[in-house]
Amino acid sequence: MTATDVSTSTSTAQHIELTERYAAHNYHPLPVVLAEGEGAWVIDVDGRRYLDCLAGYSALNFGHSNERLVAVAREQLGHLTLTSRAFFNDKLSGFAEALARLTGKDMILPMNSGAEAVETAIKVSRKWGYEVKGVPAGQASIITMQGNFHGRTTTIVSFSDDEVATSGYAPFTTGFRSVAYGDIDAVAAAIDETTVAVLFEPIQGEGGVVMPPEGFLRDLRALCTERNVLMVADEIQAGLARSGKTFACDHEDVVPDIYVLGKALGGGLYPVSAIAADRDVMDVITPGSHGSTFGGNPLAAAIGTEVVAMLEEGTFQARAAEIGDQIEAGFRPLVGNGLVGVRVRGAWAGIDIDPSLMTGRQMSEALMERGILAKDTHGSTVRFAPPLVASDDDIALLVTAVTEILTAG
Ligand SMILES: Cc1ncc(COP(=O)(O)O)c(C=O)c1O
Repeated sequence: MTATDVSTSTSTAQHIELTERYAAHNYHPLPVVLAEGEGAWVIDVDGRRYLDCLAGYSALNFGHSNERLVAVAREQLGHLTLTSRAFFNDKLSGFAEALARLTGKDMILPMNSGAEAVETAIKVSRKWGYEVKGVPAGQASIITMQGNFHGRTTTIVSFSDDEVATSGYAPFTTGFRSVAYGDIDAVAAAIDETTVAVLFEPIQGEGGVVMPPEGFLRDLRALCTERNVLMVADEIQAGLARSGKTFACDHEDVVPDIYVLGKALGGGLYPVSAIAADRDVMDVITPGSHGSTFGGNPLAAAIGTEVVAMLEEGTFQARAAEIGDQIEAGFRPLVGNGLVGVRVRGAWAGIDIDPSLMTGRQMSEALMERGILAKDTHGSTVRFAPPLVASDDDIALLVTAVTEILTAG
């Protein structure tokens, strides 16, 4: 790896200037313009190499330009890319079967973005509430968690407590009750006869890789069963090997009623999302009651089928756990030495930097200068989610860089 020269080239400056001029400012990117990617590494327009420790918010679990996924996509491009669901296609059948097998559920409903899958889970839960549970018309409520991130649609930001995500977007969708993340007593107290679902992230990614207390997922499973409420796990970022297991719920051997999946389901090549549920829940969906032009298209389905095949081999889950051990061993000694907190689950880590030293943004900028890309969240927190193809040397580079920056800071 070559050391990164922080001076901004003309080419980099031009791309940034044009992007800022013509594309809405809904992100605050680091000043790097990427042009190539392979495995855990990306290359900018000036040829500088960076270790990608964000991995498209876990969409790139299998690495950039993963050979198997690219081969499948290329092959499918030569056949058929879109039919709409007005017709059947010869790839959705295999994808639906494979994803149902992976999740252990009877059926899937394919969509595109993560937010669409969350919206789907909300709609299915409400309809199940009315048609199966017998909730009075128009009164369904869903319990959500404080600190959540489930996407950016109007309905989803209606239950966000992030000022930036909500400000200026009222009026919001009603029917949600928010409780403290991981507080089983608060969930129990919030459930009443109108409650159709509890929507939660088994690990809050955007929140800074925050985990609920040990036992929460098991207790939530028992509570949802007892009170006839759907347990809806948003595994969009936490699932599909990132946490060291296929699903983050697996850490407590818990099976939710609805899995909400996205990001890595499309291998970082294509937006592919889905929910998975048993027939008694999914059967509330009838023709015309929900859908999407691109959902379940043959290109998405071909890629998704290969993603499932790769996950069924188990190697990515095992590698995520190994990476997690290395990250834990590297970051844990920094607590009290520049860090005030470290949370690691699989190849996923959130570090809380001592705010008197630097902000998370400053840490991300300093890492960029050293050829590592990561993303800050909530002021002094930085999360790391390298592709699961990262080598031991790559992870060692990350640990050394963070250690040196904290020491110098
Ligand atoms: C847990 C979770 N749910 C939903 C989403 C939304 O996914 P998308 O950005 O694909 O709409 C995200 C995105 O970061 C997420 O982390």
